[in-house]
Amino acid sequence: MKAKITLLPGDGIGPEIVRAARQVLDTVASKFGHEFIYDEQLIGGIAIDETGSPLPDATLASFEDTQAILLGAVGGPKWDDPKAKVRPEQGLLGMRKHLGLFANLRPVKMVPGLEGASPLKPERTQGVDLLFVRELVGGIYFGPRGREVRDGKRTGFDTMVYDESEVRRIVELAVRIARGRRKHVTSIDKANVLDAMRVWREVATEVAAENPDVTIEHQLVDSAAMLLVTNPAKFDVIVAGNMFGDILSDEGAVLTGSLGLLPSASLREDSLGVYEPIHGSAPDIAGKGVANPLGQILSAAMLLRHSLGLETEAAAIEAAVHKAIADGLRTRDLGGGDASLGTNAMADAVCERIEAA
Ligand code: IPM
Ligand code: MG
Repeated sequence: MKAKITLLPGDGIGPEIVRAARQVLDTVASKFGHEFIYDEQLIGGIAIDETGSPLPDATLASFEDTQAILLGAVGGPKWDDPKAKVRPEQGLLGMRKHLGLFANLRPVKMVPGLEGASPLKPERTQGVDLLFVRELVGGIYFGPRGREVRDGKRTGFDTMVYDESEVRRIVELAVRIARGRRKHVTSIDKANVLDAMRVWREVATEVAAENPDVTIEHQLVDSAAMLLVTNPAKFDVIVAGNMFGDILSDEGAVLTGSLGLLPSASLREDSLGVYEPIHGSAPDIAGKGVANPLGQILSAAMLLRHSLGLETEAAAIEAAVHKAIADGLRTRDLGGGDASLGTNAMADAVCERIEAA
């Protein structure tokens, strides 16, 4: 197949890991007879530096006829001034909203061979295989907000708003995904305090009644945070609003001890999606060639699966990554020590294993 893929390397380690993922995509293309046409565009801090906007018009134009978007990371200390008018993150949030990517999928699974890397005891993390389904274009991230002076005091406010249709589409998606897994959904809310979350729980309860083959449990966000470290293996699909999903998915991501390995997909009803690793731009190691490219490479695998329908090719990448780890190859973040592979060497190792399979 012939497909256009927009590349958004962004900031920090973004460019080097996106380059590594592109090499893997090229390997897949030649092995399986596809042609991927890349369109590299700006987003985030580098886009602010070069155009003044974190989401330039040329980037938006590329989205018009693209089939999928592979993103590295945005942000860094250079753009961290709290008084700045534009921030790199606005590029990311603006893109999600512009494209209507309402569903953010973040799978968290123990990787064989890396059990020791988790901060939790092995008996706790055994069997962890969960999926966060985070609502991405609503809630407190996008509700009415502002800064003003009230009674002579600097005041800021953000508002959590959810209507029933927004809750329904994300919970229904979680249910459909759970049907192909262990048929269990944990719906996260704070219905004991927040009205928006009472609507969330009501709608989730209705969706549960309409889908009796899938179990939906309700969990308050604070106790869910606790359960994620005390009994993470209990979870299958976790569905949450934008902010709670943001927080819990970071907590979930460290369970496996391999933050650098975790991919994510941001999706909508059609096949267009944005794929990016869960980790950030890691400015401290940017440009050094030591960043772990595997989260980005596995994001490329999700891209092939969800946006291009290339399941065999996606599985080939995943198998090659797991083989590289099983073969003892480690980047620095995975505890490779003196024998650590750099970014390019790890990408080469994955490509060799795809070719050899
Ligand atoms: C994420 C990030 C973003 C978010 C930031 C960078 C705006 O933390 O994708 O989880 O809060 O959504
Ligand atoms: Mg986050």
